[in-house]
Amino acid sequence: MAGEIADAVAQFFATDRYFGLSELPVPRAVLAAARRTPARANAGSAATSNAVAPTDKAGRLEVLDLEQVKGCRKCRLCEGRNNTVFGVGSAEARLVFVGEGPGFEEDRQGIPFVGKAGQLLTRMIIAMGLRRDDVYICNIVKCRPPNNRDPAADEIMACSPYLYEQLRVIEPEIIVALGSPASKTLLDTTTGISRLRGQFHDFKLRDPLGDVRTIPLMPTYHPAYLLRSPNEKVKAWKDLQMVMARLGLPLPQGG
Ligand code: URA
Ligand code: SF4
Repeated sequence: MAGEIADAVAQFFATDRYFGLSELPVPRAVLAAARRTPARANAGSAATSNAVAPTDKAGRLEVLDLEQVKGCRKCRLCEGRNNTVFGVGSAEARLVFVGEGPGFEEDRQGIPFVGKAGQLLTRMIIAMGLRRDDVYICNIVKCRPPNNRDPAADEIMACSPYLYEQLRVIEPEIIVALGSPASKTLLDTTTGISRLRGQFHDFKLRDPLGDVRTIPLMPTYHPAYLLRSPNEKVKAWKDLQMVMARLGLPLPQGG
């Protein structure tokens, strides 16, 4: 595991050796203790045997996915999709990553962040000392925008209730918003990602009764942008280290 983390950090920064980073910051400890225990495989099975709505988090997410999102036609993005892309990871996650919308590969597989940008996100997660299974990964829209354009305001408005329900179920301690559309949507601002990133913001999660829960949210660069602008990885890594510190995860030496 420690070797895997070192490799992920090294790969994440591979192109940054040219930007003066000779020493790669490698997380010191193995992080099992910092992880939540994985979701119980059978959670809620007793409660669901009478076809009552599941009360466990994984079951509630599954119902939302299968009963509402899979057949959803609330916006025009349903027309071009091959698969809805609901989300992946642990329903008990302390940390949720929110991206923009499915791309070609995500639409084909029905799983978020599995293309090139997704592979970089996976390395970022491993560099934090976590695995994809420890966190939850989803997007602000669940169907692929044609030609990977940004989702339109009305599409985000139609789809975001699903995201908010996912967040109400999971109750993460921290949210990382990847890129401008996710950050602007969740923070309800027009400020760009370069000005938003680098500090925590208050994300206000409302429930249907109007109660508000505040969750700390870190905006950072989208991995697709980092693939195009690898010198910005240093800043993204700083953002992720602030997240790690807040979660109590061991920080890399000298990083
Ligand atoms: N980009 C995103 O924003 N989300 C994905 O799921 C894949 C790429
Ligand atoms: Fe429904 Fe969201 Fe897909 Fe639009 S993007 S059709 S709102 S699931």
